[in-house]
Amino acid sequence: MAIDVRPMLEQDLATAEQIFRVAFGTAHGVADPVRYMLDRNYIRSRWAADPGGALVAELDGEVAGSALAAKWGSVGVLGPLTVDPRFWNSGVAGRLLESILDLPTMREARLPALSTAAGNVRTVRLYQRFDFWPGYLIPILGKMLDAADGASLPAESPAAIHYSALSVAEKVTARKACAALTDAVYTGLDLSGEIQSVERQALGETLLLRSGESVDAFAICHCGAGSEAGEGACYIKFGAARTPEGFELLLKEVEALAQSRGLGRVIAGVNAGRRTAYGCLLARGFTAAIHSVSMSRFARQSYDGTDALVLDDWR
Ligand SMILES: CC(C)(COP(=O)(O)OP(=O)(O)OC[C@H]1O[C@@H](n2cnc3c(N)ncnc32)[C@H](O)[C@@H]1OP(=O)(O)O)[C@@H](O)C(=O)NCCC(=O)NCCS
Repeated sequence: MAIDVRPMLEQDLATAEQIFRVAFGTAHGVADPVRYMLDRNYIRSRWAADPGGALVAELDGEVAGSALAAKWGSVGVLGPLTVDPRFWNSGVAGRLLESILDLPTMREARLPALSTAAGNVRTVRLYQRFDFWPGYLIPILGKMLDAADGASLPAESPAAIHYSALSVAEKVTARKACAALTDAVYTGLDLSGEIQSVERQALGETLLLRSGESVDAFAICHCGAGSEAGEGACYIKFGAARTPEGFELLLKEVEALAQSRGLGRVIAGVNAGRRTAYGCLLARGFTAAIHSVSMSRFARQSYDGTDALVLDDWR
């Protein structure tokens, strides 16, 4: 069978989304894979954020799978990678991986990174063949909110600023300040693309805690159905803070954002090597729902140290 890999086009989106659902639904053994994660948006929004980072594979002319990559400055985040179960074990994922790793987003990344289900021996082995090596567990944690959450913000603290409320010029300054914060965590790490994509596609909100023009903490949040959060949830796609106090305040602000939008649950993933951040989530009542595992290519140094006050899960 001939496998061809090519850029994902707008007309591929419906098929690629369907394959995403059926592939994960089948892998997770759900009763109706076609309807799996219908409230989530992983393919369309990532394609819209950067169409150049999305590929499909065709098997004898039929779309059989897709792979996406996101550029976070010096970090290239690969995923999701999904293949139609009818074509599993035909080498489609292998071909997609070869091609996506050759795109500038992944090839030029200082840190090519991904995560996969920690218990999935087969995908870990697949990625290992492409020189991705397992690092830490990434617990994906959730917290059901009650009336007290978000209501405990200290009066003297500056309220989080909503990125969407800033002027065009202020947004440029804010993105630069966020990049300065993340650059201090890992050289070149820059979430500007995600911040802009969330706003452009109305996926949620980016919260900023500022001191003057500098950003002390920020969280890129997806909110509700049609985003990566899903129905009733607020998902912290990426969060970072300079200090533990700022980190704690950021979590409170995210909970308040969720409450203000009528969302009853906050979801966040954190590399378990970041003990302070992980511990802070646990102390606030978050509990792990699933465990992913971080994988970085060529076993490159990552930003997993105890003191990295960062939330992300590379999904
Ligand atoms: C994981 C996934 C992408 C793999 O897709 P795939 O197209 O079946 O993968 P490939 O065929 O390229 O390779 C996978 C296996 O098939 C084997 N294989 C490759 N070509 C083959 C061929 N022509 N004949 C027989 N086996 C073959 C590979 O050696 C590999 O075997 P191993 O894992 O036992 O060592 C797919 O199962 C999937 O979509 N799963 C659900 C979503 C998911 O978990 N995605 C990854 C995390 S984001």
